[in-house]
Amino acid sequence: FKVPTPVNEPVKTYIPGSPERIELQNTLRTLKSQQVDIPMYIGSEEVRTNNKKQLSPPHEHQHILGHFHEGDASHVQQAIEAALAARQRWANMPWQSRAAIFLKAADLLAGPYRARLNAATMLGQSKNVYQAEIDSACELIDFLRFNAAFMTEIYAQQPESSPGVWNRLEHRPLEGFVFALTPFNFTAIAGNLPAAPALMGNVVVWKPAYTQIYSAQLIMQLFKEAGLPDGVINLIYVDGPVAGDVIFKHPDFAGIHFTGSTAVFQHIWKSIGENIQTYKGYPRIVGETGGKDFIVAHPSANAKALAVAISRGAFEYQGQKCSAASRAYIPANLWDEVKQFVTEDLQSFKMGSTEDFGNFINAVIDEKSFDKLAKYIDAAKNDPDVEIITGGTYDKSEGYFIQPTVLKVKDPRYVTMCEELFGPLFTVYVYEPDQFEEILEIVDTTSPYALTGSIFSQDRYAIDLATQKLLHAAGNFYINDKPTGAVVGQQPFGGSRASGTNDKAGSVFNLIRWTSTRTIKETF
Ligand code: SER
Repeated sequence: FKVPTPVNEPVKTYIPGSPERIELQNTLRTLKSQQVDIPMYIGSEEVRTNNKKQLSPPHEHQHILGHFHEGDASHVQQAIEAALAARQRWANMPWQSRAAIFLKAADLLAGPYRARLNAATMLGQSKNVYQAEIDSACELIDFLRFNAAFMTEIYAQQPESSPGVWNRLEHRPLEGFVFALTPFNFTAIAGNLPAAPALMGNVVVWKPAYTQIYSAQLIMQLFKEAGLPDGVINLIYVDGPVAGDVIFKHPDFAGIHFTGSTAVFQHIWKSIGENIQTYKGYPRIVGETGGKDFIVAHPSANAKALAVAISRGAFEYQGQKCSAASRAYIPANLWDEVKQFVTEDLQSFKMGSTEDFGNFINAVIDEKSFDKLAKYIDAAKNDPDVEIITGGTYDKSEGYFIQPTVLKVKDPRYVTMCEELFGPLFTVYVYEPDQFEEILEIVDTTSPYALTGSIFSQDRYAIDLATQKLLHAAGNFYINDKPTGAVVGQQPFGGSRASGTNDKAGSVFNLIRWTSTRTIKETF
């Protein structure tokens, strides 16, 4: 009675002339030329309001992709009511039927939806074709398929019984609704955050980041086409504080599945605490938040491998992956070689629209992010203790473009070594080779975050020392590899400290948070 563990969805290459490339290019043209009108989805209704907001590609902010209908507090209330109305039937549905819906969604995404969701991610979130493919196609397909298998592993866990006594566990959904608050940077995460609790029998109110609505709506259509009943997931576009004010005061609030900033998560945690007596139970609080992901190299590291990890691990998707490396500690004996390779590599990256598949670097997500990054770059330019190794220019006349930028600092606690930046801005500190142990201490204490990190070394003692000293510095720790690109089923993903509750996305550890287990003892 288990869903067998699937294999990861193969990544398509989109080489020139391939059928997938031609289909994607046609889909991009179609989506670009139409004006999409995106409603909210509440129960069986597509809800439109008088408050239409424009959607534009971050790399071409004058172009209009279409509009979405923004809601207010009344829509949040309606979404909760629709969820609660669907709750009983959904919770009573056999798990095989719930699994079938999400497995069908995975197959539809692997087939007819793939080009559309990739195109929506490329246009709406400015992700290049390869990043879109590994995110909105492969990672989301993997989440859906692997979670179905993990769910059955959880259900198969049963206690011992004895003659005259039958003990059993019943994995109930939570008593209420779950709120999924999802980010712009991974379409797969945005889809998984509502899907995982729903798979486990819960009903969900889903509020995506405004900058991800284009692809969020397609995911909603995908789930519906796969057979998801009305009201199980309700998709709303409402200002965060307005939504929070209704959600966290509601007696049926039973859990939050969150990816976003540390500040917002901490604020939510406080709101939940303030309202704790309102709820039927203690809500599940599951969140992945900020990061200040590191690469630390030992003097024995392979310089070429280290350099590749920097240019890919720090600059894929313009450094806007939560897992992206944003600070490195490099021994002086390796620096010249690393610097030369990284500089040449970054300068060879083409920057521009995602519709030209030759562009590796695209725009950052919005003007707010662009302005914030530009300020850090300007401050670095005016600081005599900071050297700009490459990049340092930006231009928002057509799109929010920031050249991949590498800074070298004299102070290992310079502001860009400590604060989360979420963009194509990477900082290096070069240390004397005999300071390796001291550097590990600095890596561990420089930021409050602990999401991802990498050690590069060919010396096993050094690898073991770093693994031990950085025990709590990263939830995903990589040895001789870049800190991005966790694959569902292979590297369960999540961080601790200020980076989140570390309930590993796409694993049994996450799914188990969406059940409330009842133990039944029956005596004969
Ligand atoms: N899977 C992504 C990464 O590791 C994060 O969700 O980069």
